[in-house]
Amino acid sequence: MKRIAIGADHAGFEYKQVIIELLFDMGFEVDDMGASSSESVDYPDHVHPLAQKIHDGEIPHGILICGTGNGVAMTANKYSNVRCGLCWNKEIAVLIRKHNNANIVALPARFITIDDALQIVKSFLDTEFEGGRHQRRIDKIIQGITC
Ligand code: RB5
Repeated sequence: MKRIAIGADHAGFEYKQVIIELLFDMGFEVDDMGASSSESVDYPDHVHPLAQKIHDGEIPHGILICGTGNGVAMTANKYSNVRCGLCWNKEIAVLIRKHNNANIVALPARFITIDDALQIVKSFLDTEFEGGRHQRRIDKIIQGITC
């Protein structure tokens, strides 16, 4: 079965629960990294364990949700094998897969509807990386300045 990891803080908790239902319907085995309620938590506590699994190659893809999507994305992108993209519509979700080979999508729960979030997750999971010139550019993310 395909595995996926999902995590959120209190601001993303309700969206996480709805997205998990979609993931089950799509046939995924879901690693739920919390939070487990809408009580206030610190988002890095839920992002680090998820990002480590993606970094290690244990799970191919992840979904992170907080109020703006930025705190979770900033935390996840500290891991060198993680490419986490912030998405607020499905077109961007397609492009972070095609062009950036993103392995985590970050969602801003306070700025998108739940329907937007579900569309973004579907687009993210249904789109393949294009490779080619985009792989060269991703290599340069890791390498730093080379010219
Ligand atoms: C929580 O209030 C909020 O700061 C958090 O969900 C997120 O938006 C941080 O980046």
